Formats: sequence, C-alpha cells, structure tokens
Amino acid sequence: MSEQAKLTLGAKALEMPVMDGSIGPQVIDIRKMYAQTGAFTFDPGFTSTASCLSAITYIDGDEGVLLHRGYPIQQLAEHSSFPEVAYLLTEGELPTKEELDTFVYTITRHTMVHEQLMQFFRGFRRDAHPMAIMCGVVGALSAFYHDSTDIDDPKQRMIASHRLIAKMPTIAAMAYKYSVGQPFVYPDNSLSYTGNFLRMTFAVPAEPYIVNPVVERALDRIFILHADHEQNASTSTVRLAGSSGANPFACIAAGIACLWGPAHGGANEAALNMLREIGRPERIPEYIARAKDKDDPFRLMGFGHRVYKNYDPRATVMQQTVRELFAELKVSDPIFEVALQLEAMALNDPYFIEKKLFPNVDFYSGIILSAIGFPTSMFTALFALARTVGWVAQWNEMIGDPEQKIGRPRQLYTGAPQRDYVPISKR
Ligand code: CMC
Repeated sequence: MSEQAKLTLGAKALEMPVMDGSIGPQVIDIRKMYAQTGAFTFDPGFTSTASCLSAITYIDGDEGVLLHRGYPIQQLAEHSSFPEVAYLLTEGELPTKEELDTFVYTITRHTMVHEQLMQFFRGFRRDAHPMAIMCGVVGALSAFYHDSTDIDDPKQRMIASHRLIAKMPTIAAMAYKYSVGQPFVYPDNSLSYTGNFLRMTFAVPAEPYIVNPVVERALDRIFILHADHEQNASTSTVRLAGSSGANPFACIAAGIACLWGPAHGGANEAALNMLREIGRPERIPEYIARAKDKDDPFRLMGFGHRVYKNYDPRATVMQQTVRELFAELKVSDPIFEVALQLEAMALNDPYFIEKKLFPNVDFYSGIILSAIGFPTSMFTALFALARTVGWVAQWNEMIGDPEQKIGRPRQLYTGAPQRDYVPISKR
C-alpha cells in the first residue's frame, strides 16, 4: 500500500494517499478531504498546492534546475532551436530530422493571418500597448478559425495549436508595426521562425531586409528560455479557462491577459525601465534601500521568484547571451553595467540573502531586446509569443487528462452572515 498522510480534525480522522512524481516533492492527495471532514484547505496563491499532473516541465527551485521533458534548459538553449523546443514540449520527445522538418513545414504554412483580421488592428489607438492588442486580436482568432475550435476533436486541437504557434509572431509584429505607423509586412516562409519574425517587425517595403544571424540566434535563444515554465500564473489561467471547455484561442487570450501583469511577464518591461531610471551605478544603493523599505511599494524588478530560491538558470543563460551579443555586434550599453553592479550588490545584501532573492529571467532579457531594437512595450508581447508554445502544450495535456474537471476553487467566507433586506428609506 502506498504511503498515507494522517489528518485529525476534532473527532474526525482522515487518511490521505501520498503521491510520488518521477522527481520532486511528494504530494498529498486531499481530494476526499471535504467530503470526509467538511473542511477545506486554505492556500491563497497556491504556495502548497499541485493543481494537476504534468509531464512537461520540472523545476527544482532550491537547486535552480529547469527541465523540459527531462532536458536541462542550459542544454536546450545551447544546442537546440525554438521550433525544436516547441516540438519537444508539444509532442513529448525530441524530433528526428524528418519529424522536425515536417513540423517546421506545417508551422510555416500557418504563418499568415486572415486578411480581415487587419481591420481589428486599425480599430486600436496608435498608442495602444501591444499586449492590449494581443489580448484582443488573439481572442478574435476564435471568430476566424471555426474549423479548429471543437476541443473534442484531436485533429482540430492540433490544427489550433499549430495555428497559434505560427500566427503569434505575425500578430506580435503587426502590433508593433501598427504602433509605429508602418505597413504590415507579410510573412516570408523561406525564413526561420525567428528570422521571419525579425523581418515582419523591422523590414519596410521600401528597402531589402537581411536577417542578421547573430541577432536571429540571440532572439531564438530568448524564445527557448521563455517557452514554458510549469504551472505559473498565465499557464494556470490557460488551464483554468480551458477547464470549462472554452476554445483554445480564447484560452490563450486569457493567458496573455494574465502574463501582462508586472509580477509576471510584465516584469521584463518594468526591469529595463527601472535600470534606465537608476541610470548610473552611484544610484544603486538608493534603489536597494527602497526595495528593502517596508513602507515603499517599490521592488527590484527582475528579482525574486515564487519557485526559485536560487539563481534562475534562465537568468544565467540570459546574462551570457548579453555578453555574446554585445561582443559579436561590437556594441555596449551602460545599463548592462548598472544591472551587473545591482545584481552584485543585492546578492551581498542580508535582505536579499535571507529572502533568497536572485535575478530571474526578466532581469537581463530587456537589455538584449533593447539592443536588438525592440521598444520596452514589446517585451511582454515577445514573452507571450514564446510562451504560447508552453500554453498550448499544457492546454493539450489538460484536455487529454481523463481526470480533468472544471477548475473551481472554494473560499473561506468572511462576509456578513445571512440578514434581512432593509428598504432604502430605513437605512
Ligand atoms: N524586491 C524586493 N523585495 C522582494 C522582491 C523584490 N523583487 N521579491 C520579493 N521580495 C520580498 C517580499 O517583500 C517579501 O518580503 P516579506 O516576507 O518581508 O514580506 C518576500 O520577499 C517574499 O515575497 P513574496 O511577494 O511573498 O513572494 P512571491 O513568491 O509571492 O512573489 C514575485 C514572487 C516574483 C512576484 C516577487 O518576487 C516579485 O514581485 N518580483 C518582482 C517582479 C518580477 O521580477 N517578476 C518576474 C517573475 S519571473 C518571470 C515570470 O514569472 O513572468
């Protein structure tokens, strides 16, 4: 018999099975707890709750380990490509050459968007945030691709997944083009996934555009580093939206909305804005002091993580990528020096040591994206583009899980007990 956990509540005793994953902490199965004790568990923020079974991504936050389907993120960032990682996450195994070619061919043939979708962009103000546009336009895809919204049909689920992965760069690039008042650039299917995105973002019809392979590789690596991250807030949002049977386009739009917040994907934009505001190494102590001040809501953006209590392995690769990109492009940015000194100072400060706060994926990514030429407002849209792969993989895994139910948390009610309505004249 498997190990049991025991809970006593007043006179009631409950035995709960303990579940083992392939690696990672044990999990106590509390599913029968309410029926047998009449009590709920209380875990706002889900700090002690596993919401699903998943075989996609594993994080050991204490050791700073991130594995996709078992493969360490450092190895994938160094040797793989974003389409290959997309295949790995969605299909479960690294592809053979033939499988990868077929996958890339399929994705590439879905890069165009319905011509009428252009009208949606024109409805936004020019100064709309790209994430506002992404939420709206991605949600609108469900109004255009009716032949891939039946979630009970595996073939339609696959087509919707491919469409989402393929069209996200087109939509993100269009959001950028709209904001700068330049014409939309159609995809060029002779280019790589990332090269195509660069061209759709930075090319103009008046001039030829040649993709810089150094920039292409750096951005592809950034996409790999953002592809998936277990049951984070936006992925859980996608799963929760999908648990009601909503179509995949609507679910991914929900994920984009959640990602936008500064505590999640919006941190890359906030981190670079913060580094620019600090501006010079002499000002770092002032910002460290503010981050430590309980009465000041300011936090060091790009620092800290719910799961990592060690260096985020993605931040290590990201820092290395800044160095490589700057060396290869023969450019520099004084903000990088500010970031390095800020990190060093924070990591030697008792506040950050005690709370185990380390740089996360967002701390250095903005420096690279800025060097490539993206405005800060596009940073989170790029995160959404890459994370779509993880969202789609997790959504498919959830739909295929026979134990899947609609997500429906309960609460600890602290409001007024039942009382009688008082007419307005008597209040
Ligand atoms: N600067 C200063 N203090 C911090 C920071 C920070 N960046 N992060 C956490 N703390 C403190 C916090 O004040 C709290 O102190 P105390 O225990 O005295 O109240 C303690 O550390 C624990 O913080 P928490 O907010 O309870 O932890 P959490 O797991 O709920 O939050 C977090 C995690 C990522 C939201 C948070 O660290 C944060 O706001 N970081 C800045 C935003 C950021 O970089 N987000 C990107 C996350 S990684 C990519 C992604 O998920 O999209």
